[in-house]
Amino acid sequence: MRIHTEFLRFSPDDATSLADFLTEEEWPYHSGTQDREAVERRVAEGLYDNEETRTFWVLADGERAGLVRLQDLDDGGPMFDVRVRQAWRGRSVGTQAVAWLTGYLFTELPDITRIEGTTRQDNHAMRAVFRKNGYVKEAHYRDAWPGRDGRPHDSIGYAILRRDWLSGTVTPPDWHDDQRDSAVAKQL
Ligand SMILES: CC(C)(COP(=O)(O)OP(=O)(O)OC[C@H]1O[C@@H](n2cnc3c(N)ncnc32)[C@H](O)[C@@H]1OP(=O)(O)O)[C@@H](O)C(=O)NCCC(=O)NCCS
Repeated sequence: MRIHTEFLRFSPDDATSLADFLTEEEWPYHSGTQDREAVERRVAEGLYDNEETRTFWVLADGERAGLVRLQDLDDGGPMFDVRVRQAWRGRSVGTQAVAWLTGYLFTELPDITRIEGTTRQDNHAMRAVFRKNGYVKEAHYRDAWPGRDGRPHDSIGYAILRRDWLSGTVTPPDWHDDQRDSAVAKQL
């Protein structure tokens, strides 16, 4: 049966739950280590809910299964982060969360024309979530994502256009606008 999701705005009273959520399991696709004190300090500083940022719990069948963080809300080019607890992965929670946040951002920010997100090249689950929600690959940044082992990964940029979201279509970028950009491996 389809899991029922709801989205609950983060409150400063949730600091302990947020610290639990971020520290109780590994988040290998996120750089930087999370420790409880740092999370609680950031909550006290208002960094999870302010003019630029809003954070929401993803409730799956009433349980706190994930977290959505919306960022850069004040500069016309919002981005987001989504995390689903291991125990809830692979059951459409991530896909539902991105569908929800896409509608939320286009509704709350009537002037934005697009929403962007990036992920690590080997994060196949997140790439599937982008595609399933009509996001299109627009960028491939080579060696742009520092790995914990010191080895850089490629970073992949996706975006959805408001006009595509409204019409339920997917418009690919014009990759062939200038053939001279079609790089082939060669010796300069
Ligand atoms: C990425 C993440 C949010 C996806 O959420 P989820 O609830 O597991 O995703 P869904 O159940 O909605 O699955 C979406 C698709 O991904 C596919 N998928 C899941 N895991 C996969 C994997 N390891 N490899 C390839 N595809 C995968 C699913 O098959 C599904 O596609 P389908 O419906 O066509 O079969 C979740 O795995 C997560 O929180 N990961 C750790 C944090 C993270 O990486 N966040 C993104 C940072 S950019």
